[in-house]
Amino acid sequence: MSDDGLHIESFFHSDTGAWSYLVLDPASGDAALVDPVLDYAASSGRTSTQSAQALVDAVRERGATVRWLLETHAHADHLSASHWLKTTHYPDATLAIGAGIHKVQATFRPIFNLGDHFPVDGSQFDHLFADDETFAIGGIAARVIAVPGHTSDSIAYLVGDALFTGDSLFMPDGGTARCDFPGGSAQTLYRSIRRLFELPDDTRVFVCHDYGPGGREPACETTIGEQKRANIHVRDDTAEDDYVRLREARDATLAMPALIIPSLQANIRAGALPEAEDNGVRYFKIPLDTL
Ligand SMILES: [Fe+2]
Repeated sequence: MSDDGLHIESFFHSDTGAWSYLVLDPASGDAALVDPVLDYAASSGRTSTQSAQALVDAVRERGATVRWLLETHAHADHLSASHWLKTTHYPDATLAIGAGIHKVQATFRPIFNLGDHFPVDGSQFDHLFADDETFAIGGIAARVIAVPGHTSDSIAYLVGDALFTGDSLFMPDGGTARCDFPGGSAQTLYRSIRRLFELPDDTRVFVCHDYGPGGREPACETTIGEQKRANIHVRDDTAEDDYVRLREARDATLAMPALIIPSLQANIRAGALPEAEDNGVRYFKIPLDTL
């Protein structure tokens, strides 16, 4: 997927339906990795970096320099590999997420009883992006669009003509992400999506998840115009009330994601795993009767 000056490579994580991206400015060799995934087997508690290694291999193959590790939000369905990538391969890269992460941290600190020593100011990350903040990947201009609703920290990255939406918009036949996690709001997501719909119709859209509805092959790329015409939850002519009603009715039927409990514990730490206990083993906690 190339378009004057911008090279985008997609990586599908079949266990969780998550898409990660290598975004490269070929002229400078500067690159970003968007939403990298750390493998995690819930049955054994084993982590693995096999999927993240595929990103490292692609970066090496392209001779790229990773300047940014970009999270669209604190994911609830998979663990982020950003911390591993930063500490083992790209110490000079800036690990970033939206400024709303402090709200997510403040929501989940009591749920996991992390105590006052767990900071809820986003300081686990190198950079917190504000709405409308601009940055660059090499010579390619990029802009952050805050899209709260699915989570309070959700942001989309507009890099050149490519929009990385996180979970705010799925492929048109997948609709939109749920809004029933602590801190979520269907009304807020609707208003965030309206902002994305103001972008030019030919803006390329790269989604963070795809579950292949109807048995089709997983896909990751669409356009704003296609979303406005065909998104099954929110089109250009969908009224806010109708969307909110549909979203909330659907959310009421959904079970919690299989990996929400370990994912949040890692992802509010920028993907770092909890500190090891005195036996050298790291543990996730499971809050009973809470989520
Ligand atoms: Fe998500």
